[in-house]
Amino acid sequence: MSRAARAVIDLSALRHNLQQAHRAAPQQQLIAIIKADAYGHGMVPVARALADADVFGVACLEEALNLREAGIDKPILLLEGFFHADELPLIQRHKLQIVVHSEHQLAVLKSLPAQALSIPVWLKVDTGMHRLGFLPHAVAEAWQRLNACPAVAPVLGLMTHLANADDSGDDTTRQQLECLAAVRPDPSIAVSIANSAGILAWPASHGTAVRPGIMLYGVSPMLGETGQQRNLRPVMTLSSELISTRQCKKDDAVGYGGRWVCPEDMPVGVVAIGYGDGYPRHAPSGTPVLVNGRRAALIGRVSMDMICVDLRGQPAAAVSDPVTLWGDGLPAEEIAGYASTIAYALFCGVTSRVKKETTDG
Ligand SMILES: Cc1ncc(COP(=O)(O)O)c(C=O)c1O
Repeated sequence: MSRAARAVIDLSALRHNLQQAHRAAPQQQLIAIIKADAYGHGMVPVARALADADVFGVACLEEALNLREAGIDKPILLLEGFFHADELPLIQRHKLQIVVHSEHQLAVLKSLPAQALSIPVWLKVDTGMHRLGFLPHAVAEAWQRLNACPAVAPVLGLMTHLANADDSGDDTTRQQLECLAAVRPDPSIAVSIANSAGILAWPASHGTAVRPGIMLYGVSPMLGETGQQRNLRPVMTLSSELISTRQCKKDDAVGYGGRWVCPEDMPVGVVAIGYGDGYPRHAPSGTPVLVNGRRAALIGRVSMDMICVDLRGQPAAAVSDPVTLWGDGLPAEEIAGYASTIAYALFCGVTSRVKKETTDG
């Protein structure tokens, strides 16, 4: 076997996390968000494992086509709809649902000849995130125009996205919910509001369809929490091996820039993982890793292919010993905190040279 850097994707943990979403929002349709290669976990195996989801949410037509080519026949929703009119025939042919979030998209749909297409549509409302969607004052008219549009069938409901739901003390979410309620002309109209944070912390956001993303991958969306606190299980474990150990002397500088200097004679290990694999370049000295399942600290700068670790806690550690960078036993949320990023970005950043393997234990 060659270089040991690998990401093991635990499909039983994924299904467990899906059940947690179902349990939190049992009456709702569940749109599992698997865009960006299922947050770096591998879209096709993830989709196959999530057979209990009702719909898959992806970012663009290409992602949906990958799923269709792999034989996934479940409904698929394009969360940003179409970017150009020439995508519409494929959207129709592959029975995709779309979000319509802009006047531009609405105008394209209106311009199509009668009966040319029939595409199910969610109308996106900007309730306060100020990213995509119709402003509240424009929703009633957009809703009417969509319903009168022969290319659209049916209009599925109103969708919005929460900006601050990861903070259970922030008032923005309550205001967004009020805003959506005010533009919903009739309570029989379906609404989809909740991302993972909405599902876990804001029951009033559950509406008729929920859209879990990060919680499916075992991460708590709530600030300062780990998935374990929400009974979620990590799905991706990023691991590698020690490829060298050496005894360094007091005052030896380790790695590029000599940023970390040995405070005493000590053993230092080198792990085959680096920013070329997606390990965060900005992870500082002190970021934990697991060597043989026990915590050790990253020391010095992260290189493209390697990191160095402090082996004073286990001087007997040797070449080929296993090292976990995040996942089982070491929450990605914790590593993200050290590296001033978020677990979403860690997962999406794992590069193609890291072997991805699935396990179903
Ligand atoms: C429109 C939409 N809904 C739901 C989600 C899922 O969010 P989360 O991963 O925080 O659950 C996303 C992710 O960014 C999204 O863009």
